[in-house]
Amino acid sequence: MSGSNLELWKATYDAETQDQLNDAYKLWCTDYDRDCVQGMGYVGPMTACRMLDTYLESPESRVLDAGCGTGLVGQVLSKHGYGRVDAMDISKDMLQVAKEKDVYNKFFQADMSEPLEVLNDDTYDASICVGTFTYKHVGPEAFNELIRVTKPGGYVCFTIRDGAYQEYGYRKRMHELEADNQWELLEMAKQDYLIKEGVTAKFCVYRVGNC
Ligand SMILES: C[S@@+](CC[C@H](N)C(=O)[O-])C[C@H]1O[C@@H](n2cnc3c(N)ncnc32)[C@H](O)[C@@H]1O
Repeated sequence: MSGSNLELWKATYDAETQDQLNDAYKLWCTDYDRDCVQGMGYVGPMTACRMLDTYLESPESRVLDAGCGTGLVGQVLSKHGYGRVDAMDISKDMLQVAKEKDVYNKFFQADMSEPLEVLNDDTYDASICVGTFTYKHVGPEAFNELIRVTKPGGYVCFTIRDGAYQEYGYRKRMHELEADNQWELLEMAKQDYLIKEGVTAKFCVYRVGNC
């Protein structure tokens, strides 16, 4: 990765405001895939999609890719045969790169930290969110909306970067939602995430409750 792109990657973890984060992704969007996959050994999308695929019954399943970025998750889901995947991200620049991959149906520019007013209740068989529950990105307040837009009995699959997991209150909120029967934990595994950086993440799959 070039020195300036290394700075952009760091800038995404240091952003103090959503505007700063969006600016960093605007500058990084065209090099993001190469820098992450080849540069840092980013395997989050592959591992998370493989996990979700073991639970979904059909490639006809409707899936929301929340915090889709440039569409790495959509590309992997497409390789697994899923053709009904919608994309959502706050960054119009990342969404534009995702659009060019031709692996999604609908696109939504939305802030996951707020109510997702563009999406109806119980719409998706699964929501997947990879790489977005991390430092200075989206906090645990977003779990409720992923649950709301996913059908009862459907799945919410996500990664949380190790380090941020406890510090940002994800763990506490995950337990609260379990205690409230909003979702049930099916699987949580610590796995490689950015292999060349020695970074791991929690990979989680929950089943949405009938509430
Ligand atoms: C590290 S990228 C991950 C992208 C993709 N899922 C992947 O695995 O490559 C994080 C993404 O989260 C998006 N993001 C950050 N804050 C957000 C928010 N509040 N709402 C929706 N998306 C957000 C960024 O724009 C960026 O595309």
